[in-house]
Amino acid sequence: MHIHNISSSNTILNKFISEIRDVNVQKDSLRFRRNIERIGEVLSYELSKELKYSVNKVETPLGTKEIDQLTNKIVLCSILRAGLPLHQGLLNYFDDAENAFISAYRNHPENGVPSEIIVEYFASPSIENKTLLLADPMLATGQSLVAVYEAIKKYGVPKELHIIVVIASKEGVDYISKHFPENTHLWIAALDETLNEKGYIIPGLGDAGDLAFGKK
Ligand code: URA
Repeated sequence: MHIHNISSSNTILNKFISEIRDVNVQKDSLRFRRNIERIGEVLSYELSKELKYSVNKVETPLGTKEIDQLTNKIVLCSILRAGLPLHQGLLNYFDDAENAFISAYRNHPENGVPSEIIVEYFASPSIENKTLLLADPMLATGQSLVAVYEAIKKYGVPKELHIIVVIASKEGVDYISKHFPENTHLWIAALDETLNEKGYIIPGLGDAGDLAFGKK
């Protein structure tokens, strides 16, 4: 897996990251969603440097100019509901992308049956030969991302795969590195040390879905 950790202390990205972590700023859910969206825009720009381009002629009012345009179709897939603001940020840049949405949650262990990731809803166009962008704001254990990847396989084999994450844990990065193809690109805006016993990223930011859309 190609890991791109784009966090950097002397950039505007750092301000967006510090605001989504800060309990005082988190009270403003509109600002939280917009900051996640802005981080998605920065990640889009960074990952756009790894995509393939073909030269096309563009007509200006006064002449013609050769301009690079994306070669492959993009499918942008996000996990409901926490993924929606990040999805919007990516879509602001990749505005021709097709879109896929999936629901994934962990059930609780019962009567000796271990907990597992449940996928209930999935709507996706074909991903065959396209560039798949798989977005998840919080890469904690990595199990939801792997479940989503297993589920999306029935829609085809993508030409390239990019995973886009706002905050990742080291455990999550290790886990998905073992479960995704070697040529997968992983884009991270911030990398945190560890997880707590409930699977939350430490220090992280708390529950991204609740912060964006209110408590369930
Ligand atoms: N999902 C979240 O919203 N936060 C975490 O810390 C981990 C998973």
